[in-house]
Amino acid sequence: MNYRIAAIPGDGIGVDVSVEARKVLDRAAELNGFGLEWTEFDWSCERYTSTGTMMPADGVEQLAAFDGIFLGAVGFPGVPDHVSLWGLLIPLRRAFAQYVNLRPVRLLPGTTSALAGRSADELEMVIVRENSEGEYSQLGGRHNAGRPDEFVLQESVFTRVGVERIIRYAFDLARTRTGRVCSATKSNGLIHSMPFWDEVFAEIAAEYPDVHSEQCHVDALAARMVQQPDRLDVVVASNLFGDILSDLAAAVTGGLGMAPSGNINPPGEFPSMFEAVHGSAPDIAGQGIANPVAQVLAGAMMLDHLGETAAANAVRAAVERVLAEGRVATPDLGGKSTTAELGTAIADALS
Ligand code: NAD
Ligand code: IPM
Ligand code: MN
Repeated sequence: MNYRIAAIPGDGIGVDVSVEARKVLDRAAELNGFGLEWTEFDWSCERYTSTGTMMPADGVEQLAAFDGIFLGAVGFPGVPDHVSLWGLLIPLRRAFAQYVNLRPVRLLPGTTSALAGRSADELEMVIVRENSEGEYSQLGGRHNAGRPDEFVLQESVFTRVGVERIIRYAFDLARTRTGRVCSATKSNGLIHSMPFWDEVFAEIAAEYPDVHSEQCHVDALAARMVQQPDRLDVVVASNLFGDILSDLAAAVTGGLGMAPSGNINPPGEFPSMFEAVHGSAPDIAGQGIANPVAQVLAGAMMLDHLGETAAANAVRAAVERVLAEGRVATPDLGGKSTTAELGTAIADALS
């Protein structure tokens, strides 16, 4: 079996960690009797600088027939972030109806987290982030530009279909885990969108009497994620809240270098896209010191999605073995190894 994968290494450390992750995934494929056929696309800020667009006009069509998309990171100084991200990442998520952004969080060995030393079973949650609407909207605009009464409006869009499907996904996922869902909102401050989300959440919770559900204020939840993360399992949140909570969750479990993410099209009608939670990290780009673990684990999520569960589990086990041993570690993990050394160590741990 051969899977066709579109690789978009993107910008900054996205390129470095993608190379290492592909090294690990190719080895896992070889050992498990399938092939990964990569097609690389140079869509990036560099491309924007030379051509004026992040991807070609028919970019979405070019990707549509792939079995998966493996993305490094998008965004680099020189191109405004809203231009680069709305020119590549966000349009792909929307065009392929990847309305679930799944961000599993596990306490891994060898981390420098505040929770380091606790056992992995004490912290295992997943953030189910709405990935297609909400606060990420192009509606709004600037008014009275240059005048003292200048203001901007930034609209949010929460559709019933969009809110129902992400909440239902979270409940279905909870049934395969510990049976708990926490919904993060801010209904005390945002008086239209969030009470609507809460209302839909309550309706759907009633359909799942076997799943424990609770509604949390996102601010209080942020504190709880640091102090009592062991009491959380599935956390469902809007696009913006899910974004912020996922970096926080990554930080408490060892840093951005450890957190993977899947942009999932649940019906499987369009390709899903796998990437790290982190960005292109311009502050360390080109130094060869980025931690490739998040991208490798994103690759494991892609293997799961392709149905190659044994290979996915082997990749995760290899990561854990290398981190537990602690001999090869990048600077964010307290070591001195390079991106390539850690990638190679994980690939070697597979065999
Ligand atoms: P970032 O995640 O790139 O970096 C935040 C901090 O974490 C930096 O100090 C960085 O060095 C560190 N870090 C991140 N990943 C690391 C890794 N693998 N190993 C070691 N350290 C790591 O976030 P930012 O600085 O806010 O954003 C930089 C650019 O990336 C911006 O253009 C932003 O829009 C973009 N971005 C893209 C994506 C994406 O493509 N999915 C995600 C987030 C941010
Ligand atoms: C992420 C990123 C993106 C997001 C940005 C770069 C638009 O932060 O994937 O978490 O907010 O979705
Ligand atoms: Mn983010």
